[in-house]
Amino acid sequence: MKILKIGGDQIADNAFLKLLASTIATDDAPTAIVHGGGNEIAELQKRLEIKVVHFEGLRVTDQASLEVAEMILSGTINKKVVSGLIAAGIDAIGISGIDRGLFRCTKKSHPSVDLGLVGEIHDVRPEVVYDLVHNNITPVISPISLGADGKHYNVNADEAAAALAVAVKATKLFFVSNVPGIIQDNNVITTLDPATAIELIEQKVIKSGMVPKILSAIQAVKEGVDQVRIVDGKGLSKDTGTTIISNGSGNKLPNTNKDTSDVVTAEAKFVVSTYSRPLPVFTHGKGVYLFDTEGRRYLDFTAGIAVTALGHSDKQWVEAVSRQAGKLTHVSNLYHTEPHVELAQQLTESSFADRVYFCNSGTEANEAAFKFARKWARANHHTNVKTRIVAFEGSFHGRTTGSLAATSKTKYRSPFEPLMPGIDFATLNDIASAEKTITNETCAVIVEPIQGEGGVNTASNDFLSELRKICDKNKALLIFDEVQCGLARTGHLWAYQNSGIRPDIMTLAKPLAGGLPIGATLVTEDVAQTIHPGDHGSTFAAGPLVCKAANVVFNRVSQPDFIANVASTGKYLKQKLLQLEPQQLVDVRGSGLLIGAEFSCAIDPLIQAAAKRGLLLISAGENVLRLCPPLIVTMAQVDEAIEIIGESLGSMENNQVG
Ligand SMILES: Cc1ncc(COP(=O)(O)O)c(C=O)c1O
Repeated sequence: MKILKIGGDQIADNAFLKLLASTIATDDAPTAIVHGGGNEIAELQKRLEIKVVHFEGLRVTDQASLEVAEMILSGTINKKVVSGLIAAGIDAIGISGIDRGLFRCTKKSHPSVDLGLVGEIHDVRPEVVYDLVHNNITPVISPISLGADGKHYNVNADEAAAALAVAVKATKLFFVSNVPGIIQDNNVITTLDPATAIELIEQKVIKSGMVPKILSAIQAVKEGVDQVRIVDGKGLSKDTGTTIISNGSGNKLPNTNKDTSDVVTAEAKFVVSTYSRPLPVFTHGKGVYLFDTEGRRYLDFTAGIAVTALGHSDKQWVEAVSRQAGKLTHVSNLYHTEPHVELAQQLTESSFADRVYFCNSGTEANEAAFKFARKWARANHHTNVKTRIVAFEGSFHGRTTGSLAATSKTKYRSPFEPLMPGIDFATLNDIASAEKTITNETCAVIVEPIQGEGGVNTASNDFLSELRKICDKNKALLIFDEVQCGLARTGHLWAYQNSGIRPDIMTLAKPLAGGLPIGATLVTEDVAQTIHPGDHGSTFAAGPLVCKAANVVFNRVSQPDFIANVASTGKYLKQKLLQLEPQQLVDVRGSGLLIGAEFSCAIDPLIQAAAKRGLLLISAGENVLRLCPPLIVTMAQVDEAIEIIGESLGSMENNQVG
């Protein structure tokens, strides 16, 4: 993407707006425009007899001046640029930094003067810009920004353009001004590295209004923008002006992105092929969107298989993890640390459980559950035969040899047999089958309140209630595997809360640390009393870093408002799927944001067609689409996904379940 910063002087010139439009029309890279308008603000202030105060190129802004700045920047000037572009055939829209929280700022501090309502951008949320350029609309952005205190702030347009260029990883940032570049001894300097630019500021070769421009340019190249050019109106279409580039001495963040084909070829050579991956190579993510090496944007309705509950690069999560990484990451379980104790307290106080065992994944959480169940049965029932575990058809509990033994798909199990012995399978939602399979040799029954992998199948409340009774009758523990459906995904904090049936053990993993590896086995005191030092353990488990990440996730997803929002967005998603009414749709089921759409045919072509249109989807079996977006997904993003699914349905014509 290319970012153009233009000033008020150029905007007054209709010929410039035409030139701007033709540059946008002929450039392959999408363009976003950020504009200033200082002189126009000063003029209106004068007319209104509001004093104009400047300090080192920065406007000191009181409330009255801010109101004028907002009128001029977000109103008069913004609409002049938009109408000029539209007249020249460019589809353009005017927005300010306030819109969809594009620029979030704090009050700019200065050692010797109170700048008033002048802001400094600390966060850019570029989704609105991506949405517009994705639809071939050029955003024209006024730099008025939103402060954390809810006030509007005037932000220097050069700083705003640089911040946006960094956030979208722009290849080029242009500062269009009324001088043809940086001039020394009557000549335009063609290229400049940051160190020399600083020297020229110190020597006052670069001065007044050019200083913030150059400082912003230096910041942008340091943070990864390939080049920043200072040009006048004419220089926009010609190769003139001053180009600020990294001096290669560590100023610029290295561009580590390899070509897509390099990554795919190297992976085929060096990585054990346990997965067959589709093509995009992802480089970064923001919120519900992922971006690939080719600069394409994808709406992520997979959340890394129900993991990234807060979306990608959540600011609070990133800050907490970064801070903790700089403090303490790992000491092993031989020593005490704080974050895992806090997390254990949060998990137990919000659930049936009294204690937590931490590990690193869902499969390990289930392995721990099985070991604990066998130990509990031996300790309480003084027998070596009460070791059997009952699981259900359609289950998925993991890939290690215990959890795999309890996973129903033969295809997953048979190449690796013999697995852990002592597993029996019953049929989900079939009370007679459960009664027959569970005996007094059963130490535990494991069930997913909503099966994920198995096709988004819900265990009915009646069934769970009967299962509880059958377990109690046979003195067996009831284990709920909430690795996929726990932690707000179903529109309840814990999926079991929908049934009111409490387990003895519950396993968690996927979303708990927002993308870092963690697993947890929550148990009652009765179970915990039978586990002693040395019975089980893990080197990495419950390290301070991962637990700090989990604290952030838990604090957010456990808020009643957050959970209510998951429930209502999930309901909306279900309705919208049903409204599509494709011939091949058999059933829409699930709860919250774990939704299964069953089709009468194989859905792989649908998944591939949607990916080509920028939507990532996964299956749960050959003919069930599993929709499990980040829990922060909005209804507007649901609409976007539904539109793409609708457009992609044709890919399944004449397709049968194989
Ligand atoms: C219900 C359930 N349990 C256990 C697992 C295994 O988790 P992990 O892949 O973290 O080992 C999964 C993974 O998909 C799952 O969905």
